[in-house]
Amino acid sequence: MTVLPIVYSDDPLLRKRSHAVRRITPEIRQLVDDMIETMRTNNGIGLAAIQVGVPQRVIVVEMPSEPDEEDDEDAPPRPSQLYVLINPEFARQSRQMEDGIEGCLSVPGFVGEVSRHQRVTIKGMDLRGKAVRIRADGWLARVFQHETDHCNGVLFIDHIDDPEKIWPVAEGEEELAEATQSIPGHSDQTSSSSSGSR
Ligand code: NI
Repeated sequence: MTVLPIVYSDDPLLRKRSHAVRRITPEIRQLVDDMIETMRTNNGIGLAAIQVGVPQRVIVVEMPSEPDEEDDEDAPPRPSQLYVLINPEFARQSRQMEDGIEGCLSVPGFVGEVSRHQRVTIKGMDLRGKAVRIRADGWLARVFQHETDHCNGVLFIDHIDDPEKIWPVAEGEEELAEATQSIPGHSDQTSSSSSGSR
């Protein structure tokens, strides 16, 4: 596995619409391996292939485990869930929207408040070429929307009209900040319960 260089937002490549993957080739498998390694090394929670310069519709998302309410405090941490999705596409999106804070490995130094569908059903292919369909809400739904946007040349900053809804974060704080989103019922937006960038 190789950590690949990240493409930053001043690069026109990020505005390119990625191509659908027609066949799962060894190159695609290698790309996915490298994307996972690159995401983890950068403490990201999601990555699209275009962010490593490859205009193919491939995304990886790794959801950090959050303790279940029923777990007692001494319970061992739950393993994180890794999603690999080829040709991601939304089958359903809730009408209900939710604001949350996002960052992006391709937009270092900034986070912003973005409105997303609260619930989605995303479909695509896994690495064996098998059709998959995932229902997600809240934070995971947000990450899927953010990564699928990348496949269409869209960045989170494109969703923000109000300049007050985007702000700089200091280096180092960024990873924590990129992580955060407002969770319904939690007023503390800087909670570090979901960390990473995408
Ligand atoms: Ni991103």
